[in-house]
Amino acid sequence: MNDFDFDRPIDRRGTASLKWDKYANRDIIPMWVADMDFASPVALLDALKKRIEHGVLGYTRPPATLVETVVDMLQQQFAWTIQPEWIVWLPGLVTGINVACRTAGNDGDDVVTAVPVYPPFLSAPGMARRELITVPLRWDNTRWHWDLERLEASLTPRTRLLLLCSPHNPVGRAFQRQELMDLIDICERHDMIICSDEIHCDLILDPARRHIPTAAISPAAHERCITLMAPSKTFNIPGLGCSFAVIGNEGLRSRFRQAMAGIVPAVNVLGYTAAEAAYRFGWDWHRALVDYLRRNRDLVFRAISQMLPLQTFLPEATYLAWIDTRGLGMQNPTAFFESAGVGLSDGKDFGTEGYLRLNFGCRRELLEDALGRMQQALENR
Ligand SMILES: Cc1ncc(COP(=O)(O)O)c(C=O)c1O
Repeated sequence: MNDFDFDRPIDRRGTASLKWDKYANRDIIPMWVADMDFASPVALLDALKKRIEHGVLGYTRPPATLVETVVDMLQQQFAWTIQPEWIVWLPGLVTGINVACRTAGNDGDDVVTAVPVYPPFLSAPGMARRELITVPLRWDNTRWHWDLERLEASLTPRTRLLLLCSPHNPVGRAFQRQELMDLIDICERHDMIICSDEIHCDLILDPARRHIPTAAISPAAHERCITLMAPSKTFNIPGLGCSFAVIGNEGLRSRFRQAMAGIVPAVNVLGYTAAEAAYRFGWDWHRALVDYLRRNRDLVFRAISQMLPLQTFLPEATYLAWIDTRGLGMQNPTAFFESAGVGLSDGKDFGTEGYLRLNFGCRRELLEDALGRMQQALENR
């Protein structure tokens, strides 16, 4: 088997896949939830097989070799020096977002984020008995940005936490140093904690960009940052539930751990095994993946740009395209494309109506089929 053959069809039907089961027995290509249709690197799958062959799958601590691997990985990939004790293992990033909301401030305090954004950012504050404040991201005809003026104007004395998605799902921005510095500056002036969800940090498609961990930008950022990361998007193992927070500030880390206590379970044994193998042996596969995704991205951009009046932006990162459908003047563009055989995510779940999100983490032939169906549906409209 060629490890880098991302064109290889793998039938995911009948595997209880969240993505594929949504449209079971219907001719709809699923391009919604953010997992990819690719097999993980062979070295990762071999490590899982080896661990299973041992036969005993008992309670498991984070392996010291994994902790070492993550520390090295952050140094090598992002020139970010961390200490092993800053890492808090989590069974999911969404868990981390929810725990972060319970860590910052008290009941009734405010949490701010920018929309559109990954839906759990919008639900977590309420579940933590916090008030949600949203500000729209600003489109400057080239790129999406945080609207710093609106952000600052929206803050109240009770705003204790900023939820940041970097790289950004769904708009695909890889924020640059100055943009992050501006956000850190606002959070410092208003004494806010930053929860920086960096789950897409390894999926930078634009060769001119690189991922910069928010916490690594300055001592001020280090003091107020809860960074959330995982191998799950990068190596396509979200079903294994292994992620981690990096929290340099000891007081903040201890409050975070306290908010988890007795509720958040440990990561499962296979999650740890896969994470270590991925970060140790998965980087050649990862390079080939990013190349493949970049070509998918370019294909999506070209195709959508021709499907007037749809508009899109070339994502710098992620395998997600954020498509402006407002020109269609349609009540329900998601239903329209579903009836054309393509299952996309509805922008209103991300806090912004009139947009769709397309997941292009699939083999090219399937992507071409989906784009062809969309084009045809628009022509026949
Ligand atoms: C920004 C972001 N955070 C978190 C997650 C999910 O994290 P997990 O599956 O580890 O809870 C996703 C998945 O799409 C995501 O895009």
